[in-house]
Amino acid sequence: MDAFTRAWRVLEQHHQDTRHILLRDRFACEPDRFDRMHERLNGMLFDYSKNRLGEDTLQLLCNLADAAGLGRRMHDLRTGAKVNGSEGRAALHTALRLPDGADAVYVDGRDVLPEIRRELDRALDFARGLDDGSYKGATGRRITDFVHIGIGGSDLGPAMCVQALEPFGRQISVHFVSNADPACLDEALCRLNPETTVFCVASKSFKTPETLLNAQAVKAWYRDAGFSESETGCHFCAVSADTEAAAAFGIAPERVFAMYEWVGGRYSVWSPVGLPVMVAVGGACFRELLAGAYAMDRHFFSTPPRHNIPVLMALIAVWYNNFQHADGQTAVPYSHNLRLLPAWLSQLDMESLGKSRTSDGSPVACKTGGIVFGGEGVDCQHAYFQLLHQGTRLIPCDFIVPMTVQGKEDERSRFVVANAFAQAEALMKGKTLDEARAELAGLPETERERLVPHKEFPGNRPSNSILIDRLSPYNLGMLMAAYEHKTFVQGVIWNINPFDQWGVEYGKQLAKTIGGELQHGASAHDSSTEGLMAFYRECRLKNDGAA
Ligand code: F6P
Repeated sequence: MDAFTRAWRVLEQHHQDTRHILLRDRFACEPDRFDRMHERLNGMLFDYSKNRLGEDTLQLLCNLADAAGLGRRMHDLRTGAKVNGSEGRAALHTALRLPDGADAVYVDGRDVLPEIRRELDRALDFARGLDDGSYKGATGRRITDFVHIGIGGSDLGPAMCVQALEPFGRQISVHFVSNADPACLDEALCRLNPETTVFCVASKSFKTPETLLNAQAVKAWYRDAGFSESETGCHFCAVSADTEAAAAFGIAPERVFAMYEWVGGRYSVWSPVGLPVMVAVGGACFRELLAGAYAMDRHFFSTPPRHNIPVLMALIAVWYNNFQHADGQTAVPYSHNLRLLPAWLSQLDMESLGKSRTSDGSPVACKTGGIVFGGEGVDCQHAYFQLLHQGTRLIPCDFIVPMTVQGKEDERSRFVVANAFAQAEALMKGKTLDEARAELAGLPETERERLVPHKEFPGNRPSNSILIDRLSPYNLGMLMAAYEHKTFVQGVIWNINPFDQWGVEYGKQLAKTIGGELQHGASAHDSSTEGLMAFYRECRLKNDGAA
């Protein structure tokens, strides 16, 4: 038996041996539990004490990571080895946030840092020109609105950052258009003036139909507004790894910013894909975001697993996913500005880890990525939290809580923080039948006994609390990088490639075929797909007739 299988089996046995221990009892017997089970990094505090584990569990999980070769794999990630095997690419998002003066990082024998610096500076310059009004539209008017057209990894990271950092916003309004449903673009266009708007087409491949269809529709909008082709061109910029395709679309090379084959879409906000963030909050804030991510990278690459925040996050997730058979995982930011974080995180985790083949192509031997979902605290307390508290499923929760947004502290923001702490405590402690009975002491006995079972909370429901002292660009960078590295570590434990997404490609191919068939008729699919297509054609005839 190899070392990894041995470490895995030991953990399985350990789960059987310790499953009866309740979290509330662990807290009662271990007064120093929080002291031992939290980490701090700059303005971040990571509390993992409310998890179903002891020091022994953590040690066994670290042994598992060691047996999986985590140290070597981290080194490979950092130094530009081709960790994305199925696409033959490095995954160098960490190189994008290296500070000036960092050691060279090589891809295929070429130092990539000069190119990273050059493209970042170009993108920041362009953003500055929009912000200070030196870049003007074709009719000489100042730009007031910036629309980012992209989808998936080319959308969620920047959109989440712009929303999160809204209190740091400067003057230009930044909008996002991702869906090919015309309603998405129309909603933006109806409030915009073509003379004062710049559109950014962000697509690593420059092949994604949603993005290209929307970009074409914007071109038509300019045509309808009487703009010539060259005038329209002044209102476009692009970010892509295929700069030639962007140029062929009619975007002047000086406004095409490179992203790189060796950065995955969902890890790309640190590249010029972050242009909307640069426009929204300015270059200094964007550099702070990079600095925060770099601080987390340094911590990740240099801290022993037992105190390494992303490694602990990942090992705890593996503990629930594979040994306690959790049904999912939820992330709840207690911050209106962070309300897109769950969507960003779902893509990061589920697109990266939803794999059933190991890196060498053989079937995986265990469950891989889990169901990651979330919502904004406190709203989701009034939606799905009932299931977390009293349902039959195990769904560990990450509470992500800024202590303040921009130094503002009032009764409502205190209320939000108090609720995050209270939910984590309630999930952990629960309420026993006796405690529920004591609370209902004033009721007649039959009524009390009828209600008591409904008032019991099983407790023992795990959570992490990730607190940040304020919602700043730096802390946001740390937070996002922590989740990126957590995802990578889970990939190492499961021996899967977190940097490809072949599963998404198949649906894209079929959509192309079906799209043509819906328009032109003949098709030969399974009876269900044919039935759905027939209904579409029937409705189209009816709708065309009604129009
Ligand atoms: O369809 C999913 C996906 O492949 C993501 O991984 C990617 O971020 C997104 O599509 C958009 O791709 P592109 O940046 O090439 O337009």
